[in-house]
Amino acid sequence: MSNAVDVNEAARTIDQEGDFLKLNDIDHVEFWVGNARQASVYWRNFGFTPVAYTGLETGNRRFAGYLMQQRNIRFLLKTPYSPHDPMAAHIMIHGDGVKAICMNVDNARDAWEITSSRGGETVDAPQYDEDKNGRVQTSSIKCYGETLIRFVERGEYDGPFLPGYIELPQTVEVGPVGLAAVDHIVGNVELGKMNHWVSWFHEVLGFRQILHFDDEAISTEYSALMSKVMSNSSGRIKFPINEPAEGRKKSQIEEYLNYNVGPGVQHLALITGDIIATTRALRDRGMEFLRVPDTYYEALPDRIGEIKESYDDIAELGILADRDDEGYLLQIFSQPIQDRPTLFLEIIQRRGSQGFGVGNFKALFESIELEQERRGNL
Ligand code: FE2
Repeated sequence: MSNAVDVNEAARTIDQEGDFLKLNDIDHVEFWVGNARQASVYWRNFGFTPVAYTGLETGNRRFAGYLMQQRNIRFLLKTPYSPHDPMAAHIMIHGDGVKAICMNVDNARDAWEITSSRGGETVDAPQYDEDKNGRVQTSSIKCYGETLIRFVERGEYDGPFLPGYIELPQTVEVGPVGLAAVDHIVGNVELGKMNHWVSWFHEVLGFRQILHFDDEAISTEYSALMSKVMSNSSGRIKFPINEPAEGRKKSQIEEYLNYNVGPGVQHLALITGDIIATTRALRDRGMEFLRVPDTYYEALPDRIGEIKESYDDIAELGILADRDDEGYLLQIFSQPIQDRPTLFLEIIQRRGSQGFGVGNFKALFESIELEQERRGNL
């Protein structure tokens, strides 16, 4: 492993050069799914509250949309009504997954103009949508696979979400599990394409590479991958990009690319301030996590040293830990969250460390390979 540049130093470098694309934060993540109504209950079970809705009852003849929210995490779930809608073909090919990463910006026209002048491919030119609550301007460009980066400008809007969406009455309160924000969004791209997308994030969005993990760091007996982490100037928005490396058998990235039918978002990492409580709540509500062998926990206290959490809790729940110069982090990875072995979730708690858990990659990938083997894909 080689840490190319430290996160804070990279942020300072970009600030000096001028941050041409002002991204405020991740506004929401848009999923296209086969059955948004049922998916909304899945996310509600994991602590998300239904906030806004569009569909036949609101005059939307094209698709149903549910906005689910927990603290600063907002997931939009969409399903088209007609099999002839291009959304339906997309879902049939790629399965359920992330369609758009939506960024909050001050001006969606400016964001589109500058990114398309720097090589971004337009999917949606800037347009205003409006209703009685005001107007929202959006624009979008193409990212890896069929994933979009969308710019959302909502300064002149005070409705529940977007024009056309109505507030949902709060029904059964399931209760949050402590998830607070999106930490990073990881993309899987084809062999040989990682550097193309690293350049794209740099050229088009002005992101900087802050970390690099080569296939020496990320290899097991069977598979290998390479990964580079791109960050915006504030360091708030981080996009690791993975590509498969030559291994003895099919890597987890290749398995993803086969089942997703092309590149796309591999995992969403969600921040919690108390990973013990969050993981316990998610587990009790039915979320399935990857487990590393018990031997991992025998060596852990020596590797990580003193931490605020109990090692017994960490081992019981199957949480992973890693430490670097700045502190430590705790993380756990879910099984794929749909039938295809594609998108999964990471739950992460940062105690100083701004890394990604490189010390866990080997153990983690070995446990992913056990799952691949069970799926007949290794
Ligand atoms: Fe991650």
